[in-house]
Amino acid sequence: MFYRRVSRAFALAVCLAAASGVLAEANTQNLSNEPNLTEEQKIEFLLHAKVVDSHELGVGITHPWRLTLSDGTLTHDAAFQSVDERKTVMKLADGRTEFNFRDSYDFNLAARELAKLLGLDDMLPVTVERKWKGNSGSLSWWVPWWKMELDRKKEKLEPPDAEAWNRQMYKVRVFDELIYDTDPTLGNVLITQDWKIWRIDFTRAFRQNHDLRTPKDLVQCDRQLLEKLRQLSYEEVLDKTKPHLSKSEVKALIARREKIVAYFEKLIAQKGEGAVLY
Ligand SMILES: Nc1ncnc2c1ncn2[C@@H]1O[C@H](COP(=O)(O)OP(=O)(O)OP(=O)(O)O)[C@@H](O)[C@H]1O
Ligand SMILES: [Mg+2]
Repeated sequence: MFYRRVSRAFALAVCLAAASGVLAEANTQNLSNEPNLTEEQKIEFLLHAKVVDSHELGVGITHPWRLTLSDGTLTHDAAFQSVDERKTVMKLADGRTEFNFRDSYDFNLAARELAKLLGLDDMLPVTVERKWKGNSGSLSWWVPWWKMELDRKKEKLEPPDAEAWNRQMYKVRVFDELIYDTDPTLGNVLITQDWKIWRIDFTRAFRQNHDLRTPKDLVQCDRQLLEKLRQLSYEEVLDKTKPHLSKSEVKALIARREKIVAYFEKLIAQKGEGAVLY
């Protein structure tokens, strides 16, 4: 198991290195070519369009695929992920042991539904469940990204509008704490040419920890997001993410929600609302 985890980290490193060259070029898409469809239209397309081409994405252990779909009028790509692995005990590369380990496409579907509940649906690609070559998986609308956050950092590129950038990033951080992603790599944050952020790949999120992972990452919060977090209920999350999250995964998420809200309330008491909320 240790080996698997190491080889996975290695595979990811190779993938990300490759992505700076070949992949990045292949993925740089002109935003003006992006079809202007509603969520319902994208869902319809993802569910029913014909798969006309397929390429394996990198050498990652979970082998996601880039599929090209066509409904006769529109041709567009999508990311297919079918990993669905469970282990009672998982030994991680850093020596820690994780209990009730799950690496699953279910979490890509759950993350999208949760984002919608929180008004963050413009940060995660539209995703449906679909069968391809006999395997069920998540199929996500291919977003027109230009650079991964990993490469932006490496190349020391600064966004033109730092405030707008930070505000997007703070939302990503709140979401990441809420879902407790054990794989929040910078390769899972994609940036478009106009500096919009897309957050992808949640197959190792939704752990059953009731504590926050890295609360120090919580610096500021969007006002509407905090309000939505306050309103989020166990029943609603369980219902909207059905059947992708178990009751204990939702219970843990709600426990973390309490902690995120309490964390920001404390920050507000210390620094004043203007310094914390935007
Ligand atoms: N919806 C999407 N739109 C655009 N690009 C995507 C999308 N989904 C995935 N990609 C691209 O494919 C790469 C691999 O996908 P993903 O992050 O889901 O799996 P992975 O990290 O390679 O797999 P593993 O979980 O095994 O490490 C991403 O880093 C990104 O470059
Ligand atoms: Mg990834």
